[in-house]
Amino acid sequence: MERIIIFDTTLRDGEQSPGVGFTTKEKLEIAKQLEKLRVDVIEAGFPASSPGDFEAVREVSREVKNPVITALARAVPSDIKKAGEALREARKGRIHVFIATSPIHMKYKLKKTPAEVLRLAQEGVRMAKEYASEVEFSPEDASRSDPAFLYEVISAAIEEGAGIINIPDTVGYSVPEEFRALIQGIMKNVPDMEKIILSVHCHNDLGMATANSLSAIKGGARQIECTINGIGERAGNASLEEIVMALKTRQDFFEFSTNVNTSEIYRTSRLVSRLTGMPVQPNKAIVGRNAFRHAAGIHQDGVLKETTTYEIMTPSSIGLEEGELVLGKLSGRHALKERLRRLGFRLTDSQFEAVFKTFKELADKKKEVFDEDLIFIVEEQTFHIPEVYSLEYIHTVSGNQILPTATVRIRKKDEVFQEAACGDGPIDAAYKAIDRVTGLKANLLDYSIRSVTGGKDALGEVMVKIETEDGIVTGRGVSTDIIEASAKAYINAINRLIYRREK
Ligand code: KIV
Ligand code: ZN
Repeated sequence: MERIIIFDTTLRDGEQSPGVGFTTKEKLEIAKQLEKLRVDVIEAGFPASSPGDFEAVREVSREVKNPVITALARAVPSDIKKAGEALREARKGRIHVFIATSPIHMKYKLKKTPAEVLRLAQEGVRMAKEYASEVEFSPEDASRSDPAFLYEVISAAIEEGAGIINIPDTVGYSVPEEFRALIQGIMKNVPDMEKIILSVHCHNDLGMATANSLSAIKGGARQIECTINGIGERAGNASLEEIVMALKTRQDFFEFSTNVNTSEIYRTSRLVSRLTGMPVQPNKAIVGRNAFRHAAGIHQDGVLKETTTYEIMTPSSIGLEEGELVLGKLSGRHALKERLRRLGFRLTDSQFEAVFKTFKELADKKKEVFDEDLIFIVEEQTFHIPEVYSLEYIHTVSGNQILPTATVRIRKKDEVFQEAACGDGPIDAAYKAIDRVTGLKANLLDYSIRSVTGGKDALGEVMVKIETEDGIVTGRGVSTDIIEASAKAYINAINRLIYRREK
């Protein structure tokens, strides 16, 4: 069966999600997980956009060897040179050159005539060929471009040596039938298309990114650009898990396969959610918390009789395992080790001991420790942002007839600081007290809380996004006490800020 090439752009377009910014270490962690997921291509970044991104692409090229590593570049010499340098150690590197071809973009953004754009596209691809073994070319805003001009630019890019032509629906404007016709038009009107890989890159502004991508496959596309959890610029990109699971579940209809190891989907989704600070909406297809839950009595009855009555995919196909053993405070190392192994973690002895210690502390607070709890614990233990500040103690007083106050005790290496503050509520008071300790004046941009497990003793997860003069960072805190989780999330964001600043 013919294969669709999965091109993951979580680290490039995904990073363009407002408020998201990965450190090199975070990019590397995601890239390694994408390698386990067996994506074919990883777009690791846009090296000319910042020295940090250059470094991240270089590091991913050095460390991640199975997928093709791609770097984005505008059709300008300095971008292409930077992309080529960042990819130097890649086993297989690809430069992705783009320039806009729609009348709106050419006139208002580029302020260039179509003839100038055509020339820049040709020169860009020609130069990129000197720096990388593979060159991909994208006519940005293709879906709002004049088809005749699009054919001309694509033909020119192929003549210069582009082996992959990517058609972006940059502003998520297209609809499935129209987009399929655009792809068919390109296949028909551009010479030598059969020697080229035709790719699509769809944005989700009208909620049609996945549908447009799948429709493009019917029109002749053989590479899909997508991101984990569908993150990306504005409303995001086509979501990798939706594309892959649609192709797998409806193989009868599409007649294509992918190389993706779908049992790694759930873990990859959790990792990206954690590192971006973007929670996955509960009803998100494939990876949302509710995606495999049945609430209606009729549905539950049906599923108990025969799962296929209401389940078109199994939870295990995306790596969501049903726990057989109940893990709690009586569980020992053996049971925990076995569960971690089934969840796909391979820990060193010292990592395992650290996880076990935290697991025991949590099990003392909760009746049952769920798989989701364990995933959080492991991720926290193995992700090494130095804990410059850590919360030792928090005490808050609040009520509807009292001025909310908080006292915090925070450790910084060998020193311990204690501060108190009043606020609009206990969390506001706690954040003000933490600000007094750290001396940082952070502006809270976003705060969200959710329970990551069920029941009254649920583990609460708080995500915060803060802004300081050094930029925007996210932080995460988990506890059965939501005030403690809130303080931990805030301190986590501050530690990440310090780490980023030092880097
Ligand atoms: O959406 C877009 O057009 C892009 C291009 C750079 C491919 O991200
Ligand atoms: Zn894009």
